[in-house]
Amino acid sequence: MTAESYTSEWTGMKGRIGGWYLASWLRRLSEILILGNLRKRFMGLIALRGNEAVVDAGCGSGFYSLAIAERLDSGRITCVDLSDEMLEILSRRARRRQLADRLDIRKGDVTTLDVPAGTMDLAVSNGVWHELPDPVPAARELLRVLRRGGRVVVTDFGDTTIGRRITARHRESAHGPFSVEELVRVLRDAGFADVRGERVGHWVIAGATKQ
Ligand SMILES: C[S@@+](CC[C@H](N)C(=O)[O-])C[C@H]1O[C@@H](n2cnc3c(N)ncnc32)[C@H](O)[C@@H]1O
Repeated sequence: MTAESYTSEWTGMKGRIGGWYLASWLRRLSEILILGNLRKRFMGLIALRGNEAVVDAGCGSGFYSLAIAERLDSGRITCVDLSDEMLEILSRRARRRQLADRLDIRKGDVTTLDVPAGTMDLAVSNGVWHELPDPVPAARELLRVLRRGGRVVVTDFGDTTIGRRITARHRESAHGPFSVEELVRVLRDAGFADVRGERVGHWVIAGATKQ
């Protein structure tokens, strides 16, 4: 799949409103009260030192990218998404929070990242794979850009009533929510080692390393 053959669903009004919501206090509140406090678990799992080269594949409007950028000093984060609307919101938010110099924002597809092989310390992708027809090529791409010893952390909606309802809004070909076992299997199939996954409320999260 290439950027030419795949277009974002997050365009126009959906991109602007969705982009606002995904970066808002309302999302944070819905996670804490209903969906599960995934960002807390995610930030704990990635355990940043501050000097890492990070890629956020499907960064959206930056809910995770900016939380990561805040914890980087000499490190840098490459933020990739197909949606112009999402990237515009991310860029604005980064400037407002004086984090723009820590971000490298690029339009692109998560299955063909414009990132050289073996250059990243940490690769993350949050709430993206349920929109793809097949998550394995996206997982292989994260493996490609990581250096040996580099880590990946992926999160998505879990296969719960709420997870199924939220992810049902996408294209018919979209994968939909994940069980922990499936998310773990995708990372293993892509070639990752030390794969571990868990449920956090209505979410799933998995981490692994590149050997
Ligand atoms: C539900 S949003 C999540 C955004 C962000 N990771 C977050 O947690 O707020 C999914 C994002 O994945 C992006 N996306 C979906 N398929 C993509 C693809 N093939 N390549 C790049 N981005 C993609 C969408 O444009 C959208 O911004």
